[in-house]
Amino acid sequence: MRQWGMPDAFSVLLQRLQAGFDTIVPGADPVLRVSDRADFQANGALPLAKQVGRSPQQVAADVVAAASLDDICAVVEVSGPGFINLTLSDAFVADQTAAVSADERLGVAITATPQTMLIDYSSPNVAKEMHVGHLRSTVIGDALARVLGFLGHEVLRENHIGDWGTPFGMLIEHLIDVGGSADAESFSVRDLNEFYAQARLHFDRDPKFGERCRQRVVLLQGGDTETLRLWEIFVAESLRHINEVYRMLGVLLTDDDVAGESLYNPLLDVVVDELGAKGLLVEDHGALCVFPEGFTNRQGDPLPLIVRKSDGGYGYPATDLACIRDRTQRRGATTLLYVVGAEQALHLRLVFAVARLAGYLPETSDAVHVGFGLILGAAGKKLASRSGDSERLIDLLAEGVTRATASMAERPSDLSAEERATVARSLGIGAVKYADLSTERMRDYVFDWDRMLAFEGNTGPYLQYAHARIRSIFRKAEVPPPERGTRPVVDQPQERALALQLLGFSAAVEATAEALGPAKLCTYLFDLASSFTTFYEACRVLVDDEAVRTSRLALCDLTARVLAQGLSLLGMEAPEQM
Ligand code: ARG
Repeated sequence: MRQWGMPDAFSVLLQRLQAGFDTIVPGADPVLRVSDRADFQANGALPLAKQVGRSPQQVAADVVAAASLDDICAVVEVSGPGFINLTLSDAFVADQTAAVSADERLGVAITATPQTMLIDYSSPNVAKEMHVGHLRSTVIGDALARVLGFLGHEVLRENHIGDWGTPFGMLIEHLIDVGGSADAESFSVRDLNEFYAQARLHFDRDPKFGERCRQRVVLLQGGDTETLRLWEIFVAESLRHINEVYRMLGVLLTDDDVAGESLYNPLLDVVVDELGAKGLLVEDHGALCVFPEGFTNRQGDPLPLIVRKSDGGYGYPATDLACIRDRTQRRGATTLLYVVGAEQALHLRLVFAVARLAGYLPETSDAVHVGFGLILGAAGKKLASRSGDSERLIDLLAEGVTRATASMAERPSDLSAEERATVARSLGIGAVKYADLSTERMRDYVFDWDRMLAFEGNTGPYLQYAHARIRSIFRKAEVPPPERGTRPVVDQPQERALALQLLGFSAAVEATAEALGPAKLCTYLFDLASSFTTFYEACRVLVDDEAVRTSRLALCDLTARVLAQGLSLLGMEAPEQM
């Protein structure tokens, strides 16, 4: 993918090497990697050697001779097996660091191939409180929205709330029975879980009530005015609760992003008509199904996507198809990202396959399941509250803030009580978000307060603290940061290592977008903070020599800027002081 903006050091090197490899076989991949023997190594000569029937060492030597590397590399070496080891010159590192510092975007280029990316994330259910199961989708989706937007893609956020379906028949009938139907204001979120449980009990115990519920669902789906009014009581109250969680979490989602299941209800019949017209529907025991090629169950029988059930009702598949149709046709999305738990993989693959057949996902569009693993409790089981229920997300976040407040109280601080409370919120919420984002998204992780709130290790507080500590250097010395674009001296190995790390920001952001994995950015920021710590321990910053002082202050400032920008792309705050 070509980009415009300043070329980062890695791209410059890659281009030069590419020119060298092109003289052997046009388009051959240099296989450029970060190296522990030099700064980088290009491994592409080995596979190429086989192809052209020469030794890897010869191929590597020819590549080096043809690629003009002299002005950017201090050492270029062909190692035993034919790897090309590359060490950048200090001058090039310093120039590039100055260029990153002069750039508002810290070296991150805007994509030359912008997409309209629709991100489906968070998607809690109405009439129930958000639980810990909604955390991952919400924070991963939000980080991706920020990263992809920063790279210049048009990002459409959609919160596909579960605001439709059979439970509402039950909830509405129960609302009528308990006399809450007249006055929506008296209804509060605190009651929602409780209310749901009571309605459920009512449903299980009273068959007559069950029958009323079923009739109510028919009324709801038919658009009956009074039924819709009652339904809206649940939606409005749920959104109040959901927004409270979003405000606490500091995510971008607003009411404008809500595109719940109900939105697609009018399209369900259309979908069935269109699938029928394309000859895709097969009747199976009264249900209307599509059998896309390549899907079989364990017995080897074709696997259906059931678009309409035998009772005439619709389930998730029809809604999901209508949704894709709407997203590509009305909203013009070219990439559809579904930030949904890994357990839905098969369902989504089936839906995407059928959407392709139906033409809802044209060649020009792509749908991707951005799956993720589970959050586990201490015993390696599903995380639950003391009562055994799924932990309420709002309680979890509040506990994070409480614990961060306690841990801050143990540390010296010049902040006022009010400022400390603000920082504690950033720390507590940041710790929870970062613990989630820094886990490779397909992996499960154990929710562990002590680990995520620690000021050491790959944690939110560690990065936030690293940032605040750099800012305090300027505050305490009462000096402003050097002018942006200041060219640092990179004589000391720790200065040079830090500068190289700073140059890697754009590659880290791009890798995050490519993998749709915020953990990449987390790892980068953690490595950056660690490089900074090593630098700060080895190189005194406030020395008398003015040139050295300015150079080191410039490295400090750039590190803080990259940390703050990186944290902001993760949806985290970077307090100036702690
Ligand atoms: N509402 C579902 C839940 O709370 C998640 C829906 C996932 N699907 C989607 N298209 N976002 O468990």
